[in-house]
Amino acid sequence: MKLLVTGGAGYIGSHTVKHLVEHGHEVVVLDNFSRGHRWAARWGSVEEVDLLDLESLTAALRRHQVDAVMHFAAFALVGESVRNPELYYRNNFVGSLNLLQAMVANQVSRLVFSSTCAVYGNPHSQKLAEDHPKNPVNPYGHSKLMVEQMIDDFRHAHGLQACCLRYFNAAGCDPGLETGEVHDPETHLIPCIFNSLVSGKPLQLYGTDYATPDGTCVRDYVHVLDLASAHRLALEKLGQCQTVYNLGTGRGFSVREVIAAVEKVTGRRVMVQESARRPGDPPSLVAAGGRAQHDLGWTPAWTDLEATVASAWRWHCQYFCQA
Ligand SMILES: NC(=O)c1ccc[n+]([C@@H]2O[C@H](COP(=O)([O-])OP(=O)(O)OC[C@H]3O[C@@H](n4cnc5c(N)ncnc54)[C@H](O)[C@@H]3O)[C@@H](O)[C@H]2O)c1
Repeated sequence: MKLLVTGGAGYIGSHTVKHLVEHGHEVVVLDNFSRGHRWAARWGSVEEVDLLDLESLTAALRRHQVDAVMHFAAFALVGESVRNPELYYRNNFVGSLNLLQAMVANQVSRLVFSSTCAVYGNPHSQKLAEDHPKNPVNPYGHSKLMVEQMIDDFRHAHGLQACCLRYFNAAGCDPGLETGEVHDPETHLIPCIFNSLVSGKPLQLYGTDYATPDGTCVRDYVHVLDLASAHRLALEKLGQCQTVYNLGTGRGFSVREVIAAVEKVTGRRVMVQESARRPGDPPSLVAAGGRAQHDLGWTPAWTDLEATVASAWRWHCQYFCQA
């Protein structure tokens, strides 16, 4: 298939593009490079377009005549979304509205959308299934939930075939070291621990008194390559599968467990500075596995946290040593 991948120069997008090309798909990366990297857009052709520019977006879709779209492009920093909600509603919601409009104008009717477990808000149960109530606690989560709603409405009005994939914590990097994770600022735990190791500054550990086994927050770390394969599988089943899937391993790890895994993989000791809880951090976010496995035939291959951390560390060393 010929696919347009928005945000294909970003962390998850670029890994997915590589995976899609390896599986015989033709890819056009569409990115404005506001948060992505030119070096990461190394497969397929590239359109430097902002989703907020409806005219250029529609023209790009007309030029390429794609069969489907994968939509990763968004801003995804929770704290920034709280400070600057207008940025998030404009980029994530209006940008997605433009994309859907441009798709309808070009008769492109297949879409896989990057959603997030942030649509659930504070969990009511140990593990989150797709039917868990959706009560986002920040503008980022709201903006994603609004896009899900809009996709649903386009499904009914325009016959869109779409699947929303709600990821838990993306982690790890391409073992081939051709792309990887580089965010600025970095907010994801594993690269933040690496940054602390490299800089010698202590890692801030927010909250040690949660109702979790060791008092620190528990998260479900899903390898970016498993996210990539889930996108391909969802694309192949569009129209025959459900409209929403959680993507997680079903296993949670605490911050302290992740630190221990990093220490084991790197052979270095992580300096930690314990501080107060951050507002808006739920104690535990773990996916209830099942639906994606059952319907899409998706089984996460990366279930060993140390292997995930090792893949990220190799990338980190290569990228930051060369930088
Ligand atoms: N990283 C995670 O753990 C995680 C978890 C859940 C959901 N998600 C979602 O996955 C997607 C990808 O996340 P990521 O970590 O790869 O982010 P990223 O910032 O690395 O990539 C996003 C890409 O989108 C591009 N982009 C942003 N706004 C754009 C616009 N208006 N026009 C064109 N391009 C634009 C950026 O330049 C960047 O290349 C996002 O939608 C995010 O909400 C990520």
